[in-house]
Amino acid sequence: MKSGHGAPVSPDSRRHAVSSDAGGKRLVVLISGRGSNLNALIGACSDGRIPGRVVRVISNRPQARGLDFARQSRIPYAVLDHREYPDREGFDQALAAVIEASAPDLIVLAGFMRVLSDAFVARFAGRMVNIHPSLLPDFRGLDTHARALAAGVEVHGASVHFVTAELDGGPVLMQARVPVHPDDDPETLAARVQTAEHRLYPTAVALICSGRVQAVGDKVYCDGRPLERPLLLDDTLEGMTPCVGQD
Ligand code: GRF
Repeated sequence: MKSGHGAPVSPDSRRHAVSSDAGGKRLVVLISGRGSNLNALIGACSDGRIPGRVVRVISNRPQARGLDFARQSRIPYAVLDHREYPDREGFDQALAAVIEASAPDLIVLAGFMRVLSDAFVARFAGRMVNIHPSLLPDFRGLDTHARALAAGVEVHGASVHFVTAELDGGPVLMQARVPVHPDDDPETLAARVQTAEHRLYPTAVALICSGRVQAVGDKVYCDGRPLERPLLLDDTLEGMTPCVGQD
């Protein structure tokens, strides 16, 4: 494992100190690639939209472009190259140790392209979220934009969900919808979804960090009430309206 910003990663005395500190909630962000959602989260922490800060970035790919955002913001980062581990369990154990060493309140998967073992997911149950480029439960898995176009949907989007053992199957807390244009191809549609993601993810993470949203079992609670359906981005963005699921 390699780490950056002169911050060695080792189990430390903060291991059990999972409550937030003076800087707000502690976020650990996992990436594999470009990191545009990481960048959006860093920006939202910096300007106060998220009551928290990114305390570590972890990539399973040494060349992930998103690591540049960590470097630019002087956020400690670690690279755990999954190819250096004999199996999924070995990688996940090493990953869990690095995460625990940062004593996070929330683990944020932002384009992290690894399937996580059931044991790993169970260890961080209720404390780990992912963003997926579709309106779940539609189009789980890969190539969501091409599949949405092939299906002829008129509305597409992105979802933020708590991570469970079921791939892209955990309870969804918030979604952003975008229109599908007649002349879209997967690239143009992906770009529109990504623009929405950069507002969606910070907003959803802010709701969790502020304590308004939490997962209890397979349900999402907002302001103490179970959500019947996911929140929609533009109905909750401005003014923090009451948490009522939208049609
Ligand atoms: C996003 O589209 C996200 O929905 C998916 O992976 C992509 C990551 O993009 N999980 P980036 O690395 O944040 O730019």
